[in-house]
Amino acid sequence: MWWLFSRKGPSGFSASSTAEEVTHGIDGTGLTAVVTGASSGIGTETARVFALRGVHVVMAVRNIAAGREVKEAIVKEIPTAKVDAMQLDLSSMASIRKFASDFNSSGLPLNILVNNAGVMATPFTLSKDNIELQFATNHIGHFLLTHLLLETMKKTACETSKEGRIVNVSSRRHQFSYPEGIRFDKINDQSGYNGLSAYGQSKLANVLHANELHRHLKEDGVEITANSLHPGAITTNLFRHISFVSGLVDILGKYVFKNVQQGAATTCYVALHPQVKGISGKYFADSNIANASSQANDTDLAKKLWEFSLDMIK
Ligand SMILES: NC(=O)c1ccc[n+]([C@@H]2O[C@H](COP(=O)([O-])OP(=O)(O)OC[C@H]3O[C@@H](n4cnc5c(N)ncnc54)[C@H](OP(=O)(O)O)[C@@H]3O)[C@@H](O)[C@H]2O)c1
Repeated sequence: MWWLFSRKGPSGFSASSTAEEVTHGIDGTGLTAVVTGASSGIGTETARVFALRGVHVVMAVRNIAAGREVKEAIVKEIPTAKVDAMQLDLSSMASIRKFASDFNSSGLPLNILVNNAGVMATPFTLSKDNIELQFATNHIGHFLLTHLLLETMKKTACETSKEGRIVNVSSRRHQFSYPEGIRFDKINDQSGYNGLSAYGQSKLANVLHANELHRHLKEDGVEITANSLHPGAITTNLFRHISFVSGLVDILGKYVFKNVQQGAATTCYVALHPQVKGISGKYFADSNIANASSQANDTDLAKKLWEFSLDMIK
């Protein structure tokens, strides 16, 4: 297995570290987290390990029946787990507004927001709001969700004097967007659409969103951090729309891909580890700070995307 040879970075962790390993000894009791896409893959493992560390997890899931099954499995394994499942379709602004309104009126605090849900390389489709589906689900949906939950996060950080953390699960594929980065003037155009480039575009948007959010939070003097990450290449359902990759995953998965326990490590590290306290506006991979692409570090592009996204959620 490749990960037997993976090197530890400055954090003391490597590509082979699991979510349980990177959170070993961390007490998350008293923290509340929202994890999107917790019904499958990295999101399920993130929710499980958060619960194991005592965090109250609200699983924001598109398929509530699948979410309830995951919740039952977590509670069966960890009888003390505090886990809830709430319905959220990130490709629908109405659904996001309903989720945020229900969450904000529940009276629950919010310390950690993990923007994890995602779709990859879908055939060209428009969302319920007529936005290209990958940009809608992976970026705009999370942009609106974060926007609507931010006041609750600020209130929690202020009242509890505990740092809030926003974690955007991006991908190394943020480097493989369209040449111009974000196709602002053609975002919903079918002509020139390429499923993988559109995925790269949405994942580039995840990094730019975290970076710009970090600048806003810093300006406001709020004790909330915003970071993005690449979880690694992991055998999950994500590859369902790319049949040749899906086949490779089945054959070579256990040799060349991370397993989900390793795949959720960077998310859990960035969300919970004391080493990450005060670190914001950074991109992580293998539970260490890493380099994002030059487009991802372009502050003008991040500002432009911020304004563009604000306009879209009006
Ligand atoms: N796996 C990898 O190699 C890899 C590499 C780099 C980055 N990532 C990123 O990691 C994240 C998690 O992916 P994964 O590998 O765990 O894939 P996954 O197993 O397919 O999980 C994706 C999750 O997102 C949810 N989702 C999709 N569309 C949604 C929507 N409209 N509203 C709400 N939830 C929605 C899915 O719900 P359903 O079950 O209902 O479809 C599922 O729970 C993604 O952001 C992905 O881009 C993964």
